[in-house]
Amino acid sequence: MSALKILVIPGSLRTGSLNARLAAAAAHEFALAGVEVTRISLGDFPLPIYDGDLQTKSGVPKNAVNLKRMMATHHGVLIVTPEYNSSVPALVKNAIDWVTRVHDAHETRGQVFRERPFAIAAASENRLGGIRALAALRLILSACQASVVPNQLALSFAGEAYDDMDRLKHPADIEALNALVRQLIDVAQAMM
Ligand SMILES: Cc1cc2nc3c(=O)[nH]c(=O)nc-3n(C[C@H](O)[C@H](O)[C@H](O)COP(=O)(O)O)c2cc1C
Repeated sequence: MSALKILVIPGSLRTGSLNARLAAAAAHEFALAGVEVTRISLGDFPLPIYDGDLQTKSGVPKNAVNLKRMMATHHGVLIVTPEYNSSVPALVKNAIDWVTRVHDAHETRGQVFRERPFAIAAASENRLGGIRALAALRLILSACQASVVPNQLALSFAGEAYDDMDRLKHPADIEALNALVRQLIDVAQAMM
């Protein structure tokens, strides 16, 4: 069996992003578990806001195709999203919208979502930890026919959650992250 490969996608481009830091902490845990982990930035896949006329005129942008193929070369995907106005940021939704429009030859539409499990996490400065963004993201991914693992992590008071090494410092957060990482690994292995 080939090595398990997990893709980690932070949903923020902001310098010092709390979600990018959580994505980095998660990537570290995947690596400790012996997984081949790839952590990308959506900044490397810039996309226009989805517009059907643009798709008709110019097709699906190359970056959407590249992002979809990046997902397709991994056995599982973790998305770490900020919460904006009780939902997911446009950056995350727009990337998913474009990826759903990619149709590679010999594939049915949405195959990339169906063939691998997804896990979701969020980080926020407040008490709820972005849990409403997670509810929205779970709904969006489910609509794409993705299996989203039951565990999730809503990291509350995320500004205070990391130590000097940028690792989570509170035992409950560490436990929740490990449970999420473990579950994505287990489900991805079962679907390989
Ligand atoms: C437009 C906007 C809306 C926001 N709405 C929420 C919200 O609904 N819930 C929340 O917990 N934080 C909200 N925030 C605060 C973000 O969670 C906070 O800025 C967070 O640090 C963003 O993630 P990042 O650090 O990964 O960039 C909002 C921030 C912005 C810019």
